Amino acid sequence: MRKQISPATSVSGAIQLPGDKSISHRYAMLASIAEGPSKISNYSTGADCQSTLACMRALGAANETQDGVVCVHGQGLDGLRQPAAALDAGNSGSTIRMLSGILAAQPFATTIGGDESLSKRPMQRIIQPLTQMGARIQARENRFPPLTIEGVAPGATLHPIEYTLPVPSAQVKSCVLLAGLFANGRTTVHEPLRTRDHTELALREFGAEVDVDRLSISVMGRQRLEGRELRVPGDLSSAAFFLVAALIVRESNLTIHGVGLNPTRSALLDFLAEMGAQIKILDVSSSGGELIGDVLIRKSRIQGGVLEKARTAALIDEIPVLAVLGAASEEGLIVRDASELRLKETDRIATIAENFKRMGLKIELSQDGFQVPGRQQFHAAELDSFGDHRIAMAFSVAALAADGPSTVLDADAASVSFPEFFDTLQRVAE
Ligand code: S3P
Repeated sequence: MRKQISPATSVSGAIQLPGDKSISHRYAMLASIAEGPSKISNYSTGADCQSTLACMRALGAANETQDGVVCVHGQGLDGLRQPAAALDAGNSGSTIRMLSGILAAQPFATTIGGDESLSKRPMQRIIQPLTQMGARIQARENRFPPLTIEGVAPGATLHPIEYTLPVPSAQVKSCVLLAGLFANGRTTVHEPLRTRDHTELALREFGAEVDVDRLSISVMGRQRLEGRELRVPGDLSSAAFFLVAALIVRESNLTIHGVGLNPTRSALLDFLAEMGAQIKILDVSSSGGELIGDVLIRKSRIQGGVLEKARTAALIDEIPVLAVLGAASEEGLIVRDASELRLKETDRIATIAENFKRMGLKIELSQDGFQVPGRQQFHAAELDSFGDHRIAMAFSVAALAADGPSTVLDADAASVSFPEFFDTLQRVAE
């Protein structure tokens, strides 16, 4: 789909966003291995989280969506069964990486793969710890999907491990913790720096004990999970597109209701505030162990800034749209330590750079980041998502500040995380 985006003079009003993608995946997986039914409201409508639901159904954990609520029929730790065909994770790295932790513990073999983009993403990072736990996994060229996960021999269980993550990755941490739930003992993951902790919080919500000691997270195997009723907070990473839109379009004043504010995700709000964004957070409460609240933002003069080290890791999904903000800021944006960006749905350093070039925007690249000068004029252009949801949305936002109508090619890539993105944008952008 080609989407035409006209320049806007205001991004204003009040919106609510679909459920957080990261939390939705976790709730669907844990509800499937819990005992008894679960009900998950505001579950992400994105294709990635639908891929997780489809995989869980194929594994024998039925689920159906009624009036926006996902009902999952939990099968207990030992209730999954061999799927009739290979599992399809679609575009979703979270699905294949986290679900592999569960598949590794099953007494049957499963093949799991995905689309062209997913088939190029590195899986060594999960194959290594799972193999250490006793799983047998085959992968294309030993590191790419599809993966064939043979599981454990009948009567055997995975071995608990103590594992230090070589890269900070919540997906890998979660994969090992999920496998640890099936192991015969205590599994510990040491993180080089704190990554999003939705798995730890969700495990507790479903009744498991999880010990967190600074950067070390431990889980005992064979814990019984119980079905729950949970509500997924709005997705802060989806909110990021609207926050930046409101910051770069004149006369904006936007309220986003019910957004997830988990401290391991909300570095975005701190970074925006430090750069001068007028942001207010109201009505904070807790839901399923996750913080949730309303975010109010107005057009502001943005200074610019530097993203590096732990902060780069914490904001990795928001970097495409922050690059756009950097070009509109006073002093620009420097991004360092972001080599993981090259391993996402696209090489995001390359796809950001290509769209910058098309809009006549300057950007200087390095192997693990880039530098964007500030105070740049955005020129109307034919932009391209390259099939990457966050690139589609980041450059649709950039197009709002251009000097004429732009088009975004393959814009429906946005539906991987946010199918309502363009309708929502149309409601608030004038
Ligand atoms: C995610 C973790 C991050 C993030 C991805 C979702 C998760 O990936 O980029 O969009 O839900 O755990 P990594 O674990 O590879 O850092």
